[in-house]
Amino acid sequence: MSHVYFDHNATTALDSRVLKAMLPFLTTQQGNATSRHAYGRFARDAIETAREQVANAVGAYPSQVVFTASGTEANNFAITGMAAKQPNTQIAISAIEHPCVTRPAEMMQSRGWKLAKMGVNHQCELDFAQLENALRVPTSLVSVMLANNETGAIQNIAGVAELARKNGAYVHTDAVQAFGKIDVNFEALNVHAMTISSHKIHGPQGVGALILDKRVDIAPFMLGGGQEKGLRSGTENVAAIVGFGIACELAIEKLHEHALHTQSLRQQLENGLQALNATIFSHHATRLPNTSFFAFPNIEGETLVMALDKKGFAVASGSACSSDSTEPSHVLLAMGIAPDLARGAIRVSFDASNTVEQVSAFLTILKQELKRLQQMVAMAA
Ligand SMILES: Cc1ncc(COP(=O)(O)O)c(C=O)c1O
Repeated sequence: MSHVYFDHNATTALDSRVLKAMLPFLTTQQGNATSRHAYGRFARDAIETAREQVANAVGAYPSQVVFTASGTEANNFAITGMAAKQPNTQIAISAIEHPCVTRPAEMMQSRGWKLAKMGVNHQCELDFAQLENALRVPTSLVSVMLANNETGAIQNIAGVAELARKNGAYVHTDAVQAFGKIDVNFEALNVHAMTISSHKIHGPQGVGALILDKRVDIAPFMLGGGQEKGLRSGTENVAAIVGFGIACELAIEKLHEHALHTQSLRQQLENGLQALNATIFSHHATRLPNTSFFAFPNIEGETLVMALDKKGFAVASGSACSSDSTEPSHVLLAMGIAPDLARGAIRVSFDASNTVEQVSAFLTILKQELKRLQQMVAMAA
């Protein structure tokens, strides 16, 4: 049985061209980028080339790129580092953030900062009235994600930034899911800081970046040897950074072509889902082209994921990043979706390698499995 991978929002396969660029740094080029000798200089040059590639892909300057060990780390760095310089004020985040934004914001709350969580509407779009309301209190930082990892809903970050800046707050956006799927431009978004991650764009796992306006007063995340301008000490993971740089180049090269392809697969999928009476979340929002999040009443998402896995399809349920939990997705609850329906949520996320045939086969299997599970539910009732 061949397996079909429909979980590209969770992670993506390493591109062979990325691996090729990384290999020398995992084998013969063992230099530490802080060393003065030829090996060290070679590693340093490779890191600076990658910094340019990352910067070019997001409309930033190389000097604005701070490499981190993951998107999670970049988010933690942004939240704790930017807030730390303005004690005893407020951090405002949306209710649909990834836990790697929410948890550090809650940690700061336990240390004395106020925390505002702004809601979203039924389509997963930020409630701007709640943002305006939150900004009536002195606020050090506003953090709203560019695209949601579950629904794919895209937020008006330039609009968030305008309001936040008017009120003297720093603005951060988690662009981990958006980057590589839609155009992401640091300057146009007008934020002070933006997070991206390599493994969502066919780069290696375990490397990310915080794109940072140099004028921002931010506390370092790691103290030590002073790498990354003293903001993130620790010997650089040269191979991963090199891979991230190449992945960035490749991601933007065919971005529009890939977006059109995944969007047409999603249309095919959602036509089939509608025929099966699925509820499609954020159906009317501006969404990432590759993402579809849906549910069937009375069928647990986890159960359907396992059934589809047995038939050779890898998809995600509710909160994919914590799929050991059976709690309904906090994103769907924030959208006002009933918990029972939210527990049924399934996410399909495509990439350029997926095909029309795979989607057709998926719909056939889905129909069969749904029928089987619905019969089981009816018998148990
Ligand atoms: C929206 C969002 N932010 C941050 C992250 C974390 O990135 P990383 O896996 O590089 O730590 C993820 C990962 O799924 C994500 O979806």
